[in-house]
Amino acid sequence: MGELDRDQIDIRPSPAVAVIGRGRLGGALAAALGAGAPLGRGERPPPGTAAVILAVPDGAIAALAAELAPGPAVGHCAGALALDVLAPHGERFSLHPLMTLTREGAPAPLRGAGAAIAGSTPRAAALATALARRAGLEPFELRDEDRALYHAAASVASNFLITLEAGAERLFALAGVERRHAVPLVRASVENWAALGAADALTGPIARGDVATVERQRAAIATRAPELVAVFDALAGATRELAAR
Ligand SMILES: NC(=O)c1ccc[n+]([C@@H]2O[C@H](COP(=O)([O-])OP(=O)(O)OC[C@H]3O[C@@H](n4cnc5c(N)ncnc54)[C@H](OP(=O)(O)O)[C@@H]3O)[C@@H](O)[C@H]2O)c1
Repeated sequence: MGELDRDQIDIRPSPAVAVIGRGRLGGALAAALGAGAPLGRGERPPPGTAAVILAVPDGAIAALAAELAPGPAVGHCAGALALDVLAPHGERFSLHPLMTLTREGAPAPLRGAGAAIAGSTPRAAALATALARRAGLEPFELRDEDRALYHAAASVASNFLITLEAGAERLFALAGVERRHAVPLVRASVENWAALGAADALTGPIARGDVATVERQRAAIATRAPELVAVFDALAGATRELAAR
């Protein structure tokens, strides 16, 4: 292996990579990386560690980075943060799995997920890319100026979908229909979107141009769940725009 290759791909097996943070992501990421058990509060990576990944809450990253001895490359997993929070360290990177992990110990759905990568140097970016691949993630580079937009997109794709389903769940409950009966519908809708894209996945009265049915839906919500009328109106408008594409 030549000098350049060695510089670019010096990712030795565990314990060359250490994960700090024993929460939802830390446990899953450490397991996926084969990095051994994640480190807890006050624990520090052993000598010879090439990269340290801080899987701690966003608000704790800067203080923890400042406490770490210089040497290894230091990375965080926060979609919303740039690399300046890791300021004391020369080789800084970010590896943000585009995935939702709801609780510690849950099956880790990291394999095959995307991962937004950034590095303070080409070497740090190459390191983050190699680590993402090692964890079974599919890396893509993210520019600092696009980070807030990217994180907003992730919130819309995941968090807002949950908020939307909470609204649907309420309406189903008011109609006496159990939540479990909606699950195949929701899964099929997401799979259709994944396979076909939004425009071709859209079905229902708005896609069919059935204005009278949509009016009846709106009137029922206004009577039985008025707190959801604003959401219904906003989404009906956005759905009309989608259907018109
Ligand atoms: N969960 C997700 O779906 C997800 C997805 C992508 C990216 N992320 C990112 O991953 C990072 C971690 O999120 P998370 O959801 O895994 O958080 P979490 O479940 O709340 O876990 C955070 C862990 O960090 C520990 N911790 C806090 N301060 C520490 C310190 N100074 N030293 C060592 N450990 C410390 C906490 O310990 P205590 O319990 O003692 O406080 C806790 O075990 C965040 O940057 C988040 O944005 C999360």
